[in-house]
Amino acid sequence: MQTKLEQIRKEAQNALEKLDKLDELSSFRIEYLGKKGKLTRILRGMGSLSPEERPKIGQLANEIRAHLEAEIEKKTRLLEEEALNQRLRDEAIDVTIPGKAYHRGNLHPLSIVLNEIKDIFLGMGFQIAEGPEVELDYYNFEALNIPRNHPARDTQDTFYITENIVLRTHTSPTQIRVMEKEKPPIKIIVPGRVYRSDEVDATHSPIFHQVEGLVIDKNITMGDLKGTLDVFAKELFGPRTRTQFRPHHFPFTEPSAEMDASCAACDGAGCRVCSYTGWIEILGAGMVHPKVLMYGGIDPEKYSGFAFGMGLDRIVNLKYGIDDIRLLFENDIRFLDQF
Ligand code: PHE
Repeated sequence: MQTKLEQIRKEAQNALEKLDKLDELSSFRIEYLGKKGKLTRILRGMGSLSPEERPKIGQLANEIRAHLEAEIEKKTRLLEEEALNQRLRDEAIDVTIPGKAYHRGNLHPLSIVLNEIKDIFLGMGFQIAEGPEVELDYYNFEALNIPRNHPARDTQDTFYITENIVLRTHTSPTQIRVMEKEKPPIKIIVPGRVYRSDEVDATHSPIFHQVEGLVIDKNITMGDLKGTLDVFAKELFGPRTRTQFRPHHFPFTEPSAEMDASCAACDGAGCRVCSYTGWIEILGAGMVHPKVLMYGGIDPEKYSGFAFGMGLDRIVNLKYGIDDIRLLFENDIRFLDQF
């Protein structure tokens, strides 16, 4: 019996050494130490032993059991450690591998400056309105007091879709659309694309952008116009900026003016940017013509207002020192990445 036990110990020892998977260990334990295992089966034959032999064999069997338990325990730890090391090797992150360059998009310069302009006017209590780019002749011209024979209607400038439908040549038609829908006080800006049939060059594009402004309330004066636009210029170009208003003519405002801002590049001293005048033309403006108020359904006896319109593309180019408007529309990544 003793030899049988020693044999089992050897056999188990060999089998255990060959094991290399954690889940094989539990079947190994059942095979040798389980209730119907090889060791237990031998011990069943103890009854036929002499009383002197019995404790010796019992002790040996217990020893073997304890030994195998300890070996299983050891093997378990070893296999667990190996498995962990394997995982650490498999899942290792090589922090020295160069990273993948991530191309992060950024805002178009037109959007950056438009956002600034929106913020300035929102801060002064304006709201943002929008209108259609494909516009009725009525809103683009007629209701803005631009008569049938006005040169601004010349087919040279205007893209006609049909006789009565055009691509809007300015954002001013939205003035009428807002007046029709809303009662004063009205205080809005209207950013948007506009279209003119111009030859493309460094300063002209058939598509460009304007930001319109309209304020209507009781007792609005030219003083409100000047104050509002002077604050705007200082916010956009810096606190040292000065403004001047020159008389001008627009069919839809009376009186009309153009506003210049002192050149930010030379602080008004005169340089290449401002053609050595110290001033840069920024926008057209004026008091809303009574006829235009009437077209919008607003009583000019009760209300007055001012309006203005600026070219966004020109302002962007001024702010960033860009000398060709075409760069704003080509969407060359090498250009856009610089903002
Ligand atoms: N619509 C004019 C233009 O396109 C600008 C303007 C708007 C002037 C509002 C006065 C008032 O040139």
